[in-house]
Amino acid sequence: MKLLDSWYAVALASALRPAQPLAVQLHGERFALWRDAAGGVAAVLDRCPHKGASLSAGRVSQGALACGYHGWCFGSDGHCSAIPAQHTGEPMPRRAHTRAVPCREAAGFLWLWWARDPQAPLPDPAALPPPPPVGPLPEAGDGKWRHLEGEVEWQANWLRVLEAFMDLTHAPFVHSGSFGAMAPDQLMPEEQWVKDDSLYERVLAPRDRHYRADQGRGLRGLFNADEQAGDQASDGGVQHIQLWLANVSLVRVVFGDFQISLCTAHVPLDEGRTLNLWRHFRSFLRTPLADGNARGRVDRFMAEDQRMVETLTPRLPDLDGRGDLLLASDAMTIGLRKLLREKRSAGLLV
Ligand code: FES
Ligand SMILES: [Fe+2]
Repeated sequence: MKLLDSWYAVALASALRPAQPLAVQLHGERFALWRDAAGGVAAVLDRCPHKGASLSAGRVSQGALACGYHGWCFGSDGHCSAIPAQHTGEPMPRRAHTRAVPCREAAGFLWLWWARDPQAPLPDPAALPPPPPVGPLPEAGDGKWRHLEGEVEWQANWLRVLEAFMDLTHAPFVHSGSFGAMAPDQLMPEEQWVKDDSLYERVLAPRDRHYRADQGRGLRGLFNADEQAGDQASDGGVQHIQLWLANVSLVRVVFGDFQISLCTAHVPLDEGRTLNLWRHFRSFLRTPLADGNARGRVDRFMAEDQRMVETLTPRLPDLDGRGDLLLASDAMTIGLRKLLREKRSAGLLV
């Protein structure tokens, strides 16, 4: 299933090097991304119209994308601007272009626009909506946070993955090894809403003895190691979970000043594979010496989900509810499927 006329986060912005194009994949198509002369990001289909080389295997030359095979150069509109082997004065062949795709940089990701009609002419950039307002996220260079990034590919459909990141009631069973155990009936959703293609849930982190004991071995152990930790952590906390269509989630765990945010782009490589690109922020233990531990925790947390999500059948969620038995405690999954059904009715999910 593909969401049409929508922005997809497809890469970490940090992965794009100045002179080097970047290959990305979305819904089974490959694209080459690069920085143009104005410093903006540009994207074209990753196939040279000359003999079919991957343009992402080329290089960036004076803001244009130069194919690595015979050096044809392409601008951000996809048109060929130079063919080195052509004699000067020969006209540019009419078919010497590749398809350009709108591309943006926001929230630390690079975004591609997946149009309803991919063959239609490139839309006027001003006519497109901006990428969704993912946040709050710390600004780059904010010394109050330590920031890590990573990626992991799962053999699962991207909508199943989105659902997993909106689903809290699996935490006691899936994440007891990484996040501390919680009693499932003690998750207390305080607020839930769906608007502007976004779903949100706020959940009180439980405070009972069972929870505290387990958290003491997990996250709380880290909180308490921070010299500024104080007592705020012992008062419990709040989790904010939000999803922005098409494919970005943000989970924020807030214990007073001590916060962890995990912002993840769930990239549909194709129907059966999803690339999770994550950005992790912590407001405590900001020394780089703690990075290995923090990265290990994110990797473990992701692996715990992966182990279950890759087993789900049917591979694609049945939006009409015939495949699964959803209950009131699955409110976020129900809300997401309803939103997707509305998209489908509008011809925007195919
Ligand atoms: S294949 Fe790209 S220039 Fe020849
Ligand atoms: Fe999970």
